[in-house]
Amino acid sequence: MSTTADDLREEVRRRYAESARAVTEGSGECGCGSGSCCADGESDAAMFGQALYDVGQRGELPEAAALASLGCGNPLMVADLNEGETVLDLGSGGGIDVILSAKRVGPTGLAYGLDMTDEMLALARQNQAEAGITNAIFLKGIIEAVPLPADSVDVVISNCVINLSTDKVAVLTEIARVLKPGGRVGVSDVLAEDRLSPEERAERGSFVGCIAGALSKGEYEEGLLAAGFEQVEVSFTHEVADGMHGAIVKAVKTSEPEKLGLPVIQPAASAGCC
Ligand SMILES: C[S@@+](CC[C@H](N)C(=O)[O-])C[C@H]1O[C@@H](n2cnc3c(N)ncnc32)[C@H](O)[C@@H]1O
Repeated sequence: MSTTADDLREEVRRRYAESARAVTEGSGECGCGSGSCCADGESDAAMFGQALYDVGQRGELPEAAALASLGCGNPLMVADLNEGETVLDLGSGGGIDVILSAKRVGPTGLAYGLDMTDEMLALARQNQAEAGITNAIFLKGIIEAVPLPADSVDVVISNCVINLSTDKVAVLTEIARVLKPGGRVGVSDVLAEDRLSPEERAERGSFVGCIAGALSKGEYEEGLLAAGFEQVEVSFTHEVADGMHGAIVKAVKTSEPEKLGLPVIQPAASAGCC
C-alpha cells in the first residue's frame, strides 16, 4: 500500500505527540532534550535541540521548554526582531522560539506559534504560563494553510519543520501571503546538498526524523524566489549526515509584487459603514 501525504502527516503528528508526552511525563523516552527525536536517534546531540541555544537564552526559558527543543538551529540568531513586531513560528513545538521571540518584541509586539499537534500545543501553553508570557498566542493548524490573514506578520521563523511538510510549495506560498510587504523570513532547517537525489536523501534518514523530506539548497532558493521573495540567502551551518546539513535560510518578501508578474490585489471598496 502506498503512503499518502495524509499518512505521512499523521505519522509526523504521532511522532511529535510522543515527544511532547515524554517531556510532560518526564520519561525522557525518545531522547527529547538531546533532540534525537528529530535526528532518528543517530545524530550527535549537539546537532539538534537545546544545545543550539546559548546559555543566556536557555536561562530565559522554563526547563520543559528547553527540554522540548527539537530544532536543528536557532532561528533567533537568524531573524533580528524589533520591539513591537509580530512574529509567527511555524511548527512551534514546546514553544521555545515563541517564548524567546515574545521577549524580544516586548509588550507592544506579539508572537504566534502554530502547530498541528495537540500535545505540543498543551506543552507550549504550559511553558508560556510558567514563563509569564502574555504577548504570545499558540494556534492549532497546519503550516500549509496558516490560520492568519494576509499581510499580518513582520517576521516568520521556523525551526526544523519545513522539511516535515508534504507540500513545501504551499508552505512557502503561505509564508509570503501572511508576511507584510518587506517582511522577513528566517528559518533553521535541514537541507541537502544539490548533488543528492530524493532517493539518496531517504537513504540517510527517515521523513519523521527530518532527513528524507529535506529540500536541496537549490530547491529552497528556487522555491523562495518563485513565492515572491528576494535577498534569498541559504547557508549550511553543520553537517547532520553525509551531504545533509543544518542550515539557515533568510529572505525578504518583495515590496514590489508587480516586478514578479504577480497580480496586485486591491482591497475591495468598502460597501458598508466601516
Ligand atoms: C522537529 S519539531 C520542532 C519543534 C520546534 N520548532 C523546536 O524547535 O523545538 C516539529 C514540530 O512541527 C510540528 N509540525 C510538523 N509538521 C507540521 C505541519 N505540517 N503543520 C503544523 N505543524 C507541524 C510538529 O507537531 C512538531 O511540534
